[in-house]
Amino acid sequence: MKEYLTEQAICDLLAWYQKNKRDLPWRRTSDPYRIWLSEIMLQQTRVEAVKPYYARFLDTCPTVKDLADLNEDRLMKLWEGLGYYSRVRNLQKAAQTVMRDFGGEIPHTYEELRRLTGIGEYTAGAIASIAFGERVPAIDGNVLRVLARVMGSREDIADPKTKSAWRGALLPLIPEAAGDFNQALIELGATVCVPNGEAKCKECPMRSYCVSCRENLTDEIPVRSAKKPRRIEKKTVLVIQDGDLTALCKRPDKGLLAGLWELPNREGHLSEGALIDFIRSIGFEPLRVERIEDSKHIFTHIEWHMIAYTVRIAPEFDGWQDGAGMLLVKNEELHASYAIPSAFSAYTKYL
Ligand code: ADE
Repeated sequence: MKEYLTEQAICDLLAWYQKNKRDLPWRRTSDPYRIWLSEIMLQQTRVEAVKPYYARFLDTCPTVKDLADLNEDRLMKLWEGLGYYSRVRNLQKAAQTVMRDFGGEIPHTYEELRRLTGIGEYTAGAIASIAFGERVPAIDGNVLRVLARVMGSREDIADPKTKSAWRGALLPLIPEAAGDFNQALIELGATVCVPNGEAKCKECPMRSYCVSCRENLTDEIPVRSAKKPRRIEKKTVLVIQDGDLTALCKRPDKGLLAGLWELPNREGHLSEGALIDFIRSIGFEPLRVERIEDSKHIFTHIEWHMIAYTVRIAPEFDGWQDGAGMLLVKNEELHASYAIPSAFSAYTKYL
């Protein structure tokens, strides 16, 4: 690595970053809490999508203490639509640890940060370097691509051994301006050294140091081994309504979308007849059933292939409270207070 990331190369990279960095809200602060929040939100999510969530989250939770104390439904509502909800659960758990074990002050070192729930190698490196200037790497997918291309390496960037080896090689090269250096690599990967044959080598401050630029290899590098195909789950989603009340269910506390509210749904694609039998089996009388559009939602390892029905049921039904764990919620309350994951976004217009 040091043959490629020479002192001059690092100097050019830092100068490029100073001149070209995007003006992003989390770059206008040195508050470690705000930097931490941004890094969690930016995992798996685009910068433009994060911006409004980031501002809204900080309006409600301007400090670690506010986050540690926030009620779960409000917390989920703040994250509604961002996905990967375990991120925000872990964030709150870590905030509670910070309050309890660190007197409300976010720990300053990579090693201590690493022990907080939801803070992995990358995030600990990002917070420690950006907020506290510690000279540690922060290698995300963008940085792996940049490093692979600069070195002309055909190592598999999906293999954890690659990341681990490059982390070790990068560590002694990190300059005093560690936060800027890490962000410069991230920024280069996000805006210039982009994937899918679109690399903008002409604009790149590393072009004279980069093997892939020199040898025209940006279409071949990085090499990433194929991911395992996602499991497909068929589902039937039900928009069950009685006047202006809609049925919601709470998902189990563990697993995919843990503890979030959802529209009632069944495994498999049910025929209208089977659906009516199901509705009766949980004690409701269907008045009108209508098939609505199909939709798909892609998670990291699973795809939901959904068909859906609206089901109008006879009102004032006593069986409701307990009907298969469902809750009847007024539509305006539903929009204001219940976080429904984006997996159901094709159907929220019926609510
Ligand atoms: N992605 C991850 N961390 C980031 C940061 N600090 N700035 C921009 N994009 C990022």
